Amino acid sequence: MTETEPLPADRLPQHVAIIMDGNGRWAIQRGLPRLAGHRAGTENLRRIITASVEFGIKYLTIYAFSTENWGRPPEEVQGLMRILEDVIDKELGELHKEGVQLRHIGRLERLDPKIQEKVLNAVELTKNNERLILNVAFNYGGRDEIVCAIQRMIRDGVPPEAVTVDLVSQYLFTAGVPDPDLIIRTSGELRVSNFLIWQAAYSEWYITQTFWPDFGKEEYRRALEAYVQRDRRYGGISPVVSSGKSDAG
Ligand code: IPE
Ligand code: IPE
Ligand code: MG
Repeated sequence: MTETEPLPADRLPQHVAIIMDGNGRWAIQRGLPRLAGHRAGTENLRRIITASVEFGIKYLTIYAFSTENWGRPPEEVQGLMRILEDVIDKELGELHKEGVQLRHIGRLERLDPKIQEKVLNAVELTKNNERLILNVAFNYGGRDEIVCAIQRMIRDGVPPEAVTVDLVSQYLFTAGVPDPDLIIRTSGELRVSNFLIWQAAYSEWYITQTFWPDFGKEEYRRALEAYVQRDRRYGGISPVVSSGKSDAG
């Protein structure tokens, strides 16, 4: 596949999830403060959202702040909160125009009430948009999500025999969203870091050494091209093997 060749629409992932990692190292490499890396990462996110719309991706989930990221120095945590607020203030109008539906996954409770209001307002404003569903994982943790789901099931009086894979999925923050087909992690770390641990059961992974602020449209395209070549077996065997003569006779 060359850069100009269109991506095969029928084989593209419906849902792409991204662990946007490496902002800090990107900044350190340039002798800049870590927050400058987060700002650069946010600018890149804008490009990747637009590219997702262009590529025809239906759902994009981005990991912006984990439940473990509270453990960072207070200045960095505050800086990340401010960035979220600025992004909503500056980009909401344009995202709305582009047909992006914003959703939040994670817990809002611990965030500043002013930020909570801005998030809820952004979700409300864009709720009828259909071009791209953008799930923003902010104060999100996969284990926290499962704990939250169990608490709500118990509160709702769900009987044990009614607990199924489908029901659990419906109690997660991602209810109604198909599982991610492709998960991209930038900056080369080989771990899940508490991201979509339930939903990622059969996701394909694309890991790159590139730091998030440098992960551009071209590499995004390469990740999609790599995905298109994958043979997703879900524990079965690929059709080519199963239809072989030796099986029949
Ligand atoms: C990812 O970049 C953004 C957040 C976790 C908020 P990092 O800040 O983790 O960057 P590195 O991993 O330290 O380079
Ligand atoms: C994962 O990155 C969280 C986000 C990208 C928001 P981290 O940088 O927090 O993950 P670890 O600590 O390297 O596992
Ligand atoms: Mg990191």
